[in-house]
Amino acid sequence: MKKIKTYVFNAYGALLDTYLPFEKYREELGEHALIIYKLWRSKRLQYSSQLSLMNQYTSYDKIQKYALDFACEVYGVTDEGIKKKILTEHSQLHCYPDVKEVLTSLKNDGLQTAVLSNGTPQKLNSTLRHAGISDVLDGVYSTEQVHAYKPSPAVYDFVGEQLGLARNKICFVSSNSWDIAGAASYGFTSVWINRYERTPEHLPYKADHVIKNLAELLTLE
Ligand code: LAC
Repeated sequence: MKKIKTYVFNAYGALLDTYLPFEKYREELGEHALIIYKLWRSKRLQYSSQLSLMNQYTSYDKIQKYALDFACEVYGVTDEGIKKKILTEHSQLHCYPDVKEVLTSLKNDGLQTAVLSNGTPQKLNSTLRHAGISDVLDGVYSTEQVHAYKPSPAVYDFVGEQLGLARNKICFVSSNSWDIAGAASYGFTSVWINRYERTPEHLPYKADHVIKNLAELLTLE
């Protein structure tokens, strides 16, 4: 990782623990809780990708809601209150226990840290503040600033421009295998943080490294 100057992370899943709202409302969601949660994840990616293909842009807050509405409808969850609670909880997430220490360590080594997320700037900033990691991030970038979604190259271009760095100086760390495929195809050094032993996407662009927790990032050569 010698030429790397900056580590750019996705927010939801790499730094912020998105399982918490699901755990909290598991009983209220009923027997299909886990599958609703998984469908919610894949639907928001599908909706953001489809809107991009249409050359349209809708804020990620709305995409989150539409995707949750769809997943709940499929499994017969009609209670608006529970959906509202899940979305509220999603803007008050905590970070994984290893995050603060790793970001601090990177900064102590003279490296920069940043976030590039599909989340809206307002939600991102307030959630990262709530999680207590704003002070160890040099930049927080939202794809909303370019009205495109990951894995569009426009978004990876944007973060490079903001940081004033060529792509070979940036290491992109994401919990999403599809996001890693986008970053790898773009030319970032890529690290997939696979905390839950998920199956990698079968796309032609693979991660340079796969780690199971963030602390492993510090050991990569
Ligand atoms: C993000 C989501 C997509 O933080 O994981 O960009």
